Amino acid sequence: MTRYSDLKRVALGHARAILRCRLNLVCLATMERDTQNGPAIEFRGVTYDLPSGQRVLASLNLNVQRGEILVLLGRSGSGKTTTLKLINRLLSPSGGEIFVEGKAAGAEDVVRLRRGIGYVIQEIGLFPHYTVERNIGLIPGIEGWPQEKIRARTLELLRMAGLDAQLASRYPHQLSGGQRQRVGVARALAADPQILLMDEPFGALDPLTRDELQREFLSLQLRLHKTVVFVTHDLNEALRLGSRIALMEAGKLVALLSPAEFLRSDDPLAAAYVRAFGSGLDAAAHRGA
Ligand SMILES: Nc1ncnc2c1ncn2[C@@H]1O[C@H](COP(=O)(O)OP(=O)(O)OP(=O)(O)O)[C@@H](O)[C@H]1O
Ligand SMILES: [Mg+2]
Repeated sequence: MTRYSDLKRVALGHARAILRCRLNLVCLATMERDTQNGPAIEFRGVTYDLPSGQRVLASLNLNVQRGEILVLLGRSGSGKTTTLKLINRLLSPSGGEIFVEGKAAGAEDVVRLRRGIGYVIQEIGLFPHYTVERNIGLIPGIEGWPQEKIRARTLELLRMAGLDAQLASRYPHQLSGGQRQRVGVARALAADPQILLMDEPFGALDPLTRDELQREFLSLQLRLHKTVVFVTHDLNEALRLGSRIALMEAGKLVALLSPAEFLRSDDPLAAAYVRAFGSGLDAAAHRGA
C-alpha cells in the first residue's frame, strides 16, 4: 500500500505548490530549470537512518550525468529504493546533501523539484480505481493542463509506450502485467520531466516481454535523452540499459563501473554477479551434454 501513499504524497505536494505559485508571480518567474553543465543529480556524503537508528545508507557519494541511464544494482535490501526516494524527497537524508540540477534538493520547493522528476514506482503503483487515461493524466491534471491537452498527451504516450489507444478506458486490473508496466512508464513521462526514477520497472515479467520493453525503452531514450536512475537486481538488464552501473551492498556504494568495466572487474561482489550470471548460461548450455 506504500506505493499508493507515495504517489498521493507526490500528487498532493504538486497541488499545494501550484496553488502557492499561482498566488506568487515571482515564483513563476523562477520556474525555469537551471541548465548548468554539472551533474543532473549529485549525492554528497548522504546517509539515511531509520527512526530506530538502523543505518540504511552510509556516506553515499554519487553523480548522475545528464542524459545517462545510471543503474542501481544490488540485492534485496541494499538500499536502492531508499536512494531513489531521497532524490525526489519522499525521504530526507539524515546526513549529507543531495543536489538536483545543481541545487540543494532539501532547500528547493518540493513540488517544483518533483515537477521535473518522473517516478516509476516499484510494483507499478497505478491507482486501481482510475482508468489508464486518468492514471497517465494524473500529474498533468494536477498541473492544471486543459482537458484536451491531457487527452492528446495521453494518446501520444500510449502510442510511445506501445499500447493501443483502446486501453485508455480500461482499469489496471483489466491489463496484463506487461501492459501495466508500460502504463507506469507512460505516467512517469506524462509531464515531460527531465529526470526519470525507475524502480524495477520491468520486474516480474516473462523474459520475452521484458526483452521487448527494454528494447523499446532504449529506443525511447535515444529520442528523449532523459536523465534516468534505474533500479534493478538483474545484471543482464543493468548491462543492457546502463551507461554506468552503481553496485550497492548493505547501504554502501561498492563500485561505479561502465558495463564493460563491470564484466572484467576484480571487485569481489561485481565478480560474483558476473560468475552467477555466467554460470546460469553455462549450466543451460551444458544440460544433457
Ligand atoms: N520504512 C521502513 N521501515 C523499516 N525498514 C525499512 C523501511 N524502509 C526501508 N527499510 C529497510 O531499509 C533497507 C533498504 O531498503 P530498500 O527498500 O531501499 O531496499 P532495496 O534495495 O530497494 O530492496 P528490494 O530490491 O527488495 O526492493 C532494507 O533493510 C529495508 O528493510
Ligand atoms: Mg526496492
